[in-house]
Amino acid sequence: MCGIVAAVTQRNIISFLLERIQRLEYRGYDSAGLALINQNNNFIRVRCVGKVNELIKKTKNKKLFGKIGLAHTRWATHGKVSEENTHPHISSNIAIVHNGIIENSFQIRSFLEKKGYIFYSDTDTEVIVHLLHWEQKKTGKSLLEIMHYSLMKLKGNYSMVVMDSKNSSKLIAVCSGSPLIIGLGAGENFIASDQIALLGVTKHFIYLKEGDIAIVKLKKIKIFNQNNCIVQRKIIESDIKYEYIKKGKYKYYMEKEIYEQPKSIRNTLKNRLKDNKTIYFPELGKKETNIFLHLEHIHIVACGTSYHAAMVAKHWFESLANIPCDVEVASEFTSRKLAIRRKSFFVTLSQSGETADTLMALRISKKLGYLGNLTICNMKSSSLVQESDSYLLTKAGVEIGVASTKSFTTQLTVLLMLVAKIVSIKKKEDNIEKKIVKILTVLPYRIEEILKTKKAIQNIAKKLYNTKNMLFLGRNDQYPIAMEGALKLKEIAYIHAEAYPCGELKHGPLALIDKDIPIIIIAPKNSLLEKTKKNIQEICTRGGLIYVFSDEEINLEKNITCLKVPYVEEIIAPISYVIPLQLLAYYIALSKGTNIDQPRNLAKSVTVE
Ligand code: G6P
Repeated sequence: MCGIVAAVTQRNIISFLLERIQRLEYRGYDSAGLALINQNNNFIRVRCVGKVNELIKKTKNKKLFGKIGLAHTRWATHGKVSEENTHPHISSNIAIVHNGIIENSFQIRSFLEKKGYIFYSDTDTEVIVHLLHWEQKKTGKSLLEIMHYSLMKLKGNYSMVVMDSKNSSKLIAVCSGSPLIIGLGAGENFIASDQIALLGVTKHFIYLKEGDIAIVKLKKIKIFNQNNCIVQRKIIESDIKYEYIKKGKYKYYMEKEIYEQPKSIRNTLKNRLKDNKTIYFPELGKKETNIFLHLEHIHIVACGTSYHAAMVAKHWFESLANIPCDVEVASEFTSRKLAIRRKSFFVTLSQSGETADTLMALRISKKLGYLGNLTICNMKSSSLVQESDSYLLTKAGVEIGVASTKSFTTQLTVLLMLVAKIVSIKKKEDNIEKKIVKILTVLPYRIEEILKTKKAIQNIAKKLYNTKNMLFLGRNDQYPIAMEGALKLKEIAYIHAEAYPCGELKHGPLALIDKDIPIIIIAPKNSLLEKTKKNIQEICTRGGLIYVFSDEEINLEKNITCLKVPYVEEIIAPISYVIPLQLLAYYIALSKGTNIDQPRNLAKSVTVE
């Protein structure tokens, strides 16, 4: 959570900071602030509650100037949303922006209060900056010299950037618990939480490793590792295109990302399907093949939308590969005493690769005797990829809308390939891999067809946007899709929505049915459709308001609206059927006028437990 941008340059950087911190709003948007060091070596700080647009308005006529500075967009954890709690925080000559949580902040705060420090905020970040100031004052040493020692006193996560107004030639970046990257410019250098903030000024990045402290000057970068030894970190050339982060003709990123799905699935499949019959993962080697051969169980752990993708994969692993699979929400995995299945393989699933609960689950899993672990992730540079034994990239491209869309469908694409790969390595069934390759080849075309339901969905959305509650029903591998549909609606349209397996309706939720609760039923034409029709009938007889999404015309009663979904092969039906649900949530939210890309209280990358 929280976004950080900092720069040391030879030009006025106010507009740079404002523009670039806005790109990181997906990491939090409760409040925003920046600080510069001016020509007189004083700090200038501007902060405001709300989005970066407010900060832009507040700085507009101020003629601010500074060649070195830092900016922050906040997702509140310690302390309510207020200007006082907004970063940067300052202690005399030191300014800081921070991403993370200091677990022992109360003890350090009371120590510092006894030393006479006055706290203006409720944040744990202000504790860090006063601690640094105290150490500096006590020892008379430079900020860098006291940094390593001071950090040892902090427990928790503290990726941060610090600057000293008495020494305005450098920024100090500390990477612990959340990503920080250095962007290398020509005679200027930058720091940010994510490379997308810096695209356009540089393509060359250094990803700081856990425990690194970096000194960033105009033309020089020095990095110390957690043992305080100077290290060289690899410079990576980014292949992310700047266009990815532009909205183009779309009103919201989420809309763009929904319509981008055929393309992102094609990217995900590229160079991975061979000769129309085999799946090839260049990222995996002999070690993984050996594990796949011997594994008897798969345990997938994830959060949010990624968790729903994992739930679909459970159906595939069990029905296509005959491999038992358990799926768990990461925060539950990390909260209970675990008993591990025999020859179990641990898989994490994450768009960002930074979700704290998932990362913690991976770390715990390493002590538990799994055969090994793999992460399926969209971000190669992420902590999950760095810390996992092996990884598969989803290649969805940058996803900016807080509510996940193309990440979900590309995760499912990779998961289905993985199922096929494992089946073929285990020589369980010869035809499955070939069959899946064939089906995956047509998947992008199927999605293109499904996206054409837009008009019909818009019509449904017009009828539903005033509703207060909604139910989503699905059976078997469509139950997780119902959950994903309900989640999308909650996230962006703020409508209470619940998902149920079709057959479970009669065990309680049927009591809710009346003409005011719209019920979305996902009912593809398959061997289970007859059963689902019975559920539809049960709801009809109780006067429920039904919307069926199916490739069969279902008009059992007049209170049914049927959305005719184009044909799709049964195995990939979950990937297809989520699309109309994404569109439905999107168009309902659009009619309601919510901020679709940045829904209230949420953040895209949740780096706190
Ligand atoms: C947050 C986001 C969700 C996302 C979840 C898991 O809650 O708002 O859209 O599904 O985190 O994120 P991950 O990056 O691990 O997939």
